[in-house]
Formats: sequence, structure tokens, C-alpha cells
Amino acid sequence: MSYSDQFVRGLEWLWGEGFLSPGGPAEIQQVLQGTDVRGKRVLDLGCGIGGIDRLLVSQYGASKVVGIDVEDQLITRAAKDAELIGYSSEQIEYRLATPGRLEFCDGSFEVVFTRDVIVHIEDKRKIYQDIFRILRSGGILVGGDWLGSDGAGQSERVKEWLDFAKVDFYFWTSSEMEELLIETGFESVRMTDRNQWYKRAVRDEIATVSGNNQGRFAELFGEEMANARLRSSTLKMKAVDAGELRPTNFRGRKPWFPAVVSRLPQISTTILPTCFFATKSFCASCSRSSGNTAANSGWISACST
Ligand SMILES: C[S@@+](CC[C@H](N)C(=O)[O-])C[C@H]1O[C@@H](n2cnc3c(N)ncnc32)[C@H](O)[C@@H]1O
Repeated sequence: MSYSDQFVRGLEWLWGEGFLSPGGPAEIQQVLQGTDVRGKRVLDLGCGIGGIDRLLVSQYGASKVVGIDVEDQLITRAAKDAELIGYSSEQIEYRLATPGRLEFCDGSFEVVFTRDVIVHIEDKRKIYQDIFRILRSGGILVGGDWLGSDGAGQSERVKEWLDFAKVDFYFWTSSEMEELLIETGFESVRMTDRNQWYKRAVRDEIATVSGNNQGRFAELFGEEMANARLRSSTLKMKAVDAGELRPTNFRGRKPWFPAVVSRLPQISTTILPTCFFATKSFCASCSRSSGNTAANSGWISACST
């Protein structure tokens, strides 16, 4: 999927400045319910144009957000906006990513945030394993994604929407994803279905691009885009109403101790301080502030880059 400048501006008109996903700041509040990012180092996987990163710092008090995305023009725009608004690169940093392995050392982040991105990624197992790897012990994965009902991938309604919107989505169901997160090693996994909320949101979206508003949208973004937007939202609404498209928020924690330790009959007095020390360490190659202490620890692997 390619995000042209005009397409991005159209989405922002619908969903708010800096957002390429619906719901704006109110939905981010829902996503982050029960997650404290204050003073934490956060990765935003698939950051788009960065509206969420600015919120994470200004409203939620993250000490640093690293935003990565595979689209160069989005990263460039996100970086430009952050700088214009007055954020330093100590607060928000952007990196262009290539699809595949996340280019960060083990244990680089205390929180990994992601919104409406993983549906684009076919190999879910690999991406969640990689997210688990780059989280520190006790770190949190939090976000939202497009999930589907059982059989959503084969539904004619869903196919019609995806064909029209020209996007490749790889749907998993909520229970498949929950199972995968647990299998990956996450604990306290929480899945929150947002289908009912999205039914209302997509109706608002249609109201914004139809009736009297259609002319206004066409004036700003052209007739072709106005018609395409209305058609896309209408097709999407049918699949949402049928319960086939199920936007879902999720959260999981990387355990403080590897599973093997929790099974040990007793935790030795040498292991505990080492583990504590390791979880406090930072890696220079990941732009973290203090030195890599991996050499002191068997718990995080050494940063190789
Ligand atoms: C629907 S947009 C959401 C953007 C942003 N999270 C937001 O909510 O405003 C999906 C984003 O995921 C990015 N993306 C797709 N595949 C990716 C991947 N493998 N790694 C990182 N970003 C990816 C796209 O370029 C796009 O910016």
C-alpha cells in the first residue's frame, strides 16, 4: 500500500492531524488503559506520520519514543512535524525500517506500541517473537490491530473491500492472536474487541464524506478521491456490521523472569542481583543512554551492532 501525500491528507481530514488510523486521541486513551508509559522508552512500530508519538510524549509522559515505519515519505513527514512542533531527537526519533527483523538489540524497549500495522504483516509469529525479544523483562506490548472473525479472510464482503482499497491484510482472529501471544511468552494478555465502537466510528466516517460533506471533501482532495473514500468506507461498513472486521486492542507483558527461572525450586542469591542489573542496562547502539552491561549477564544477549 502506498501512502501518497494527498491520500495521507485525506486520512488526516477524517481521523485527525498526525493519524492514519481512526479514533484519534480518544482511542489512544482506550488502547493505553492500564498502561503507564511515564518515563519509559517506547517503540512505535509502524508509526506513520507520528501523531501518536507526540501524544505518547506530551500527554503520556514517555521519556523517549522511537518511531519506525517502512514508508520513507511518512517517516520524513513525522520527523519534520516533530521538529517543527519543538520535540528534540532525544524525545522522539524516527528511523526508516525494512520489513523483517526489527533492527534493535534484545531488551531495547520498556514498551512496544503498535496501531493498525501488524495486519499488514503475514508472518505474525515472527513479528511477535521479535517484539518479545526487543522488550526488556517486565516490558509491555500494547496496541491495536485489525482482527477478523473466523473466516474473515474468505468473506466476499471483506474481499470486496480489500480489492477496492487495494490493501493486503492478513487477518487473525482474536483467539488465534491471544494464543500466539501466550505461546510467544507474554503473560497477562488482554484482548479488547472494538467492533461495536468501530460500527459507530465508521458511520461518522461516512457522514464526513457523504451528503453535503462530499462536495467539501472533493474540493479539498479531488472528485476521484472523494468517491473512492465513500465507496471504501461503505464497503468496510458492511464487513464491520457483519462482525467480520473486528478492530481489537491488546496488551501483554514480557515476564520479569524467564520461564525456566520461575520453575527453579529456589532463586539463588547470585541470579537475582544479576537479573536486576541486566534489566537496568542500556545499549549504546540502540541510542540508549548508559552502557551495555550484557557482559555481566546471562539474561540479555549482547548487543551485536
Ligand atoms: C494504518 S497505518 C497506521 C499508522 C500509525 N500507527 C497510526 O495509527 O497513525 C499502517 C502503517 O504501518 C506501516 N507498516 C506496514 N508494514 C510495516 C512493517 N513491516 N514495519 C513497519 N511499519 C509497517 C505503514 O507504512 C503505515 O504507516
